[in-house]
Amino acid sequence: MSEKKTIVCRCEDLTKKEIVEAIQEGYTDLEELRRKLRIGMGPCQGRVCLPLVKRILKQVTGEKVKQESFPTFRPPLVPVSLGSLAKLKVESKKKKQSKDQE
Ligand code: FES
Repeated sequence: MSEKKTIVCRCEDLTKKEIVEAIQEGYTDLEELRRKLRIGMGPCQGRVCLPLVKRILKQVTGEKVKQESFPTFRPPLVPVSLGSLAKLKVESKKKKQSKDQE
């Protein structure tokens, strides 16, 4: 597979070529790359792409990456169905009603 088509960040659909070009333009740390390309801002919060981006950054610049991680990791994103949320509300109402009856 050519470098052009090598997907590094699946969440944001970024290729290795786009990342290398950004580094060559002067975006030489993880925070700058995140702000320019939205690396690490997808649902996985960089868990998949961050190690790869660090490796690419080291290859292109020849320097060790100082940052160990992005500054702000958010809690894992877990989809919750509306049905399960509605069920929680009904269950809490039932508990309240049973307490009132006691
Ligand atoms: S793969 Fe890059 S944010 Fe998920």
